[in-house]
Amino acid sequence: MNANVNGMNMVYTDEGSGPTLVLIHGFPLNRATWQKQLDAFRASYRIIAPDLRGLGESEAGSGAITMAQFAEDTHELLKQVGTSPVVLVGHSMGGYVALAFAHQFPQMLHGLVLVATRSGNDTPEAAAARRSTADKVRAEGSKVVVDAMATKMLSPNNSDPEMAEQVRGFMAPSKPEGVIGALLGMAERPDATDMLASIKVPTLVVTGADDTLIPPRESEKLAEAIRGSSLKVIPDAGHLVAFERPGAFNRVLTEWLNELKLTS
Ligand code: MLT
Repeated sequence: MNANVNGMNMVYTDEGSGPTLVLIHGFPLNRATWQKQLDAFRASYRIIAPDLRGLGESEAGSGAITMAQFAEDTHELLKQVGTSPVVLVGHSMGGYVALAFAHQFPQMLHGLVLVATRSGNDTPEAAAARRSTADKVRAEGSKVVVDAMATKMLSPNNSDPEMAEQVRGFMAPSKPEGVIGALLGMAERPDATDMLASIKVPTLVVTGADDTLIPPRESEKLAEAIRGSSLKVIPDAGHLVAFERPGAFNRVLTEWLNELKLTS
């Protein structure tokens, strides 16, 4: 489906009925990474999964795309499609967006699921590395990022070539302007650690035990700082945990959602 969101053509999935789950993908990914959650949850939930500005099929602009902008786009989409407060699930960069959303639009949240993410911002060195990667993407295209990141999405112990190929397939269509925009946006994102104490909604923190991109320690820190949150560590899973271990991930999410006793 398509919506004109803050001057951009945003492509999104909106399926199922029931309480609303909003699924926000990571970088340099798109909504296709949530297919196994869509299949499992659409019978009982309304699932809204956008392609963030510049990624997947959504239109790109130019320059940095901030986490606040991604959050505003998500909020505007929810306004247009008409939802009551939602459970927001954010993976990695999508988690940065989810924290920005929780800060900007707390009244729109029933619950928060932070997957393989962190609240801290980039060190100056990490931010400089992102800017230099953005320059390389400008010169050579998105392949630079796909080659660097594809092998880090799954557990280092995962030797399934088909899964590795699917991960490359998720990343390959990423448009250079969107990749550059997200890189620059992540480089300038603020530290969200201080706002964690203000999160009042039920929160689930999930990580893959073998995540090498954002180590599980970052999830432990989130869970320590968010009052009443639960932490689940999925064994034999890397960074793209919901895709790599959908059975275990969906089970954890289902159990947590059942406890919320949501009504639509
Ligand atoms: C992601 O998967 O969204 C990225 O690894 C996040 C990041 O680069 O910080």
